[in-house]
Amino acid sequence: MPIELWTEVDRYIADLLLPPDPALDAAQAAAAAAGLPAISVSAPQGKLLQLLARTVGARDILEIGTLAGYSAIWLARALPPGGRLVTLEADPKHAEVARANMAGAGLAGLADVRLGKALDTLPTLTGPFDLSFIDADKANIPDYFDWALKLSRPGSLIVVDNVVRGGAVLDGQSPDPSVKGVRRFNAMLAVETRVSATTIQTVGSKGYDGFTLARVN
Ligand code: SAH
Ligand code: DHB
Ligand code: MG
Repeated sequence: MPIELWTEVDRYIADLLLPPDPALDAAQAAAAAAGLPAISVSAPQGKLLQLLARTVGARDILEIGTLAGYSAIWLARALPPGGRLVTLEADPKHAEVARANMAGAGLAGLADVRLGKALDTLPTLTGPFDLSFIDADKANIPDYFDWALKLSRPGSLIVVDNVVRGGAVLDGQSPDPSVKGVRRFNAMLAVETRVSATTIQTVGSKGYDGFTLARVN
């Protein structure tokens, strides 16, 4: 797969549409310095999340899987005054880097980084959230989607990252827990009458993957 070409096109798009951003660059640099994996959304994807949040007029945003807070910065910047972003992270080091990055971006007051396994912290949350971004461990996507639905209202948008996995999603025999999680999620979604959903395949600097978008009826 020509990931070099996709990366070059991502750079071309970013050069055109995504002006240099010291807070986002500093967040990525801090993540790398702390040894966190480079698996955040790309800049064009971060901007997509922000545009979606603005389009749904999100005042309350839920993120599952914070890492260094890169996608959280994109999302939190979409919030109106008085809005809030709750982002769930299991790894204490990731949460600490993320809190510092959010503060560095001037978003400490808007963003609430909750440390703990998402399945433990989700039951403590009060919804509804206007937008949920599911981007943690893929084996639990089905449960995270259930929680996102529970914490939604009609018109809420739920976005799920990494649902194509280089096409591995086609393999019904895959032993990979991530693929199994995505496939179980897709089976749920196929019979879920409470949402209207689609999945869009993506290529870019992160390779070949995709997002599911689900709007709550
Ligand atoms: N949304 C981020 C990337 C998240 S990477 C961005 O685009 O910038 C996935 C994150 O989910 C990692 O930080 C990982 O530690 C976290 N994670 C994994 N399992 C988790 C769980 N059970 N509960 C909460 N977070 C989890
Ligand atoms: C991984 C996780 C992600 O959320 C992602 O977008 C890419 C990779 C990972 O765990 O490898
Ligand atoms: Mg992801």
